[in-house]
Amino acid sequence: MRAIAVSEYGATPALIDVPRPEPGPGEILVKMIAAGMNPMDWKVADGLLKDTVEAPFPLILGQDGAGVVDAVGEGVTRLRHGEQVYGSFFGLARGLGSYAEYTLAAADGPVARMPDGMIYTQAAAVPTASLTALAMVDEARIDGGQTVLVVGATGGVGQSAVQLASRAGAKVIATARADMAGTMRRLGADETVDHSKGDLNGQVLAAHSDGIDAILDMVSDTGGTEQLAQLLRPGGAYVSTIWAVNPDAMAAREVRGTNIESAPTAELLDRLSALIDASELRVTVEREIPLEEAPAALAAARAGGARGKTVIRL
Ligand SMILES: NC(=O)c1ccc[n+]([C@@H]2O[C@H](COP(=O)([O-])OP(=O)(O)OC[C@H]3O[C@@H](n4cnc5c(N)ncnc54)[C@H](OP(=O)(O)O)[C@@H]3O)[C@@H](O)[C@H]2O)c1
Repeated sequence: MRAIAVSEYGATPALIDVPRPEPGPGEILVKMIAAGMNPMDWKVADGLLKDTVEAPFPLILGQDGAGVVDAVGEGVTRLRHGEQVYGSFFGLARGLGSYAEYTLAAADGPVARMPDGMIYTQAAAVPTASLTALAMVDEARIDGGQTVLVVGATGGVGQSAVQLASRAGAKVIATARADMAGTMRRLGADETVDHSKGDLNGQVLAAHSDGIDAILDMVSDTGGTEQLAQLLRPGGAYVSTIWAVNPDAMAAREVRGTNIESAPTAELLDRLSALIDASELRVTVEREIPLEEAPAALAAARAGGARGKTVIRL
């Protein structure tokens, strides 16, 4: 089967041919139809987890995907041959991933039936970004009456975070360059601030001189989070996806600071499916590419030159 893999950490991802994996007891073999790209994919290729998990090489990249159950291993009853599934297919320890024509998943792992009426390319764009956004909104305890700033709102995680915070009843301020402001408002943002113009604190304070309640941040480094935290009222919450929050520094401001780590499960995917089925969450795919273009797309994403969600067609 064809797959995109690295021969060692730091190597350039390349198209390779490898044997199709066989499902063992408790596993499903999924014929992937689409794989969703995330920043984590190039970070893993670069060696982000090299001290955490011992991986065999070639190491197939990719977490998110959607496809059809092609075979089930002994003892699998939750999913059946022919079912359409989506989820997180992160198989680092076995060298497997979603950028491949076939991959394996534990039948009791973070894989769920696809939402009704959803197409594979859209489903593949959902898992990591939307589950992370869901975890952030839960962690910040966002509810009606709060004002929330989403930093990195135009990205994969951010677009879901804007929708979920708005659905929870919050007033949402989204960061966006001018050309994305309309999209953010359509997703539920009440206001936008333009990060390319600098001084986010000043832009937010201009309309909220008494501060805001929560910040969901996909972008800022530790210095940046401490600057933005000046916007928060005591009792507020600051959640980062990139481990930039110093909880002690936040506590000194009477703010709850959390670094979130997405932990996908089938139950959380079912929660997302219900939101998608109810048209309360949608994910926009910016571009679809064939498998052989994935290395170039990863390089562009690493260089900061890819905007919106990219999905690989398999
Ligand atoms: N901890 C976890 O479990 C977890 C889970 C998912 C993601 N993450 C991490 O979270 C980050 C975001 O992921 P993603 O999938 O949403 O990435 P993405 O789709 O690449 O989006 C990043 C967004 O940030 C915007 N941006 C860049 N600089 C900005 C700034 N200074 N101020 C405001 N917005 C800015 C970009 O918009 P412009 O191009 O218009 O600037 C882009 O839309 C990544 O580092 C990823 O690895 C962590």
